Amino acid sequence: MRFLSSVMMSQQTPPNVGGKVSRRDFLKLMAAAGTVLTFIPFVDWGKFLPNPAGQVSERAKVELPDGSQANINSFPVNHAEAVIYPKTDDPALNKEAFRTWQFIRLPEELGGSNNGVSSFRMYSMVCLHLWCLWKYWPEPGRKRGECPCHGSLYDPLTGMAFAGPASLQSPPSNVLPMLDLEADQNGAVWIKPPNWSPNGNGVVGFGRYLKE
Ligand code: FES
Repeated sequence: MRFLSSVMMSQQTPPNVGGKVSRRDFLKLMAAAGTVLTFIPFVDWGKFLPNPAGQVSERAKVELPDGSQANINSFPVNHAEAVIYPKTDDPALNKEAFRTWQFIRLPEELGGSNNGVSSFRMYSMVCLHLWCLWKYWPEPGRKRGECPCHGSLYDPLTGMAFAGPASLQSPPSNVLPMLDLEADQNGAVWIKPPNWSPNGNGVVGFGRYLKE
């Protein structure tokens, strides 16, 4: 990474000789740019994208905007709320888009009436196209996630983009990161400790591979 940034710096401030770039410096810049382009396909860009936290080892409450914990027995079918995760003691940090998740109880036809966590989904709200915040729309004829910026549409059942620019991106960047949930004997819903990798719960802003 340091190599990349030093190359980029040298591109931004080309050496000057009498107000002009010398032929030798120009050739050096061309060689550097060629090296960067050579390595781009091998860089794991997911590792450089921000994530809300490092490892979280304990389950956490699904805390609704009113401060209560989501409960299977009371959360309405075909309804969604924005939830902050992982939540910190710092209100400024809690406003980061990369901590914002859409907690959805599926519509009835997709299994939302089941009395278990299978009727819920929790996806990152960061659109996989250019990182606007999408949300779930429960109205008849919609019942999907919609991004207001360029119209990407997300399937509430899987988190996969099925229309718009995010749907044209290659896996894993066409499927939203998703958190795993569990419920206790009282129906309270909890978030299981995540695995922030494309093959696990996904990387926020980057995507997730759909499991078979
Ligand atoms: S940022 Fe969501 S569609 Fe472009």
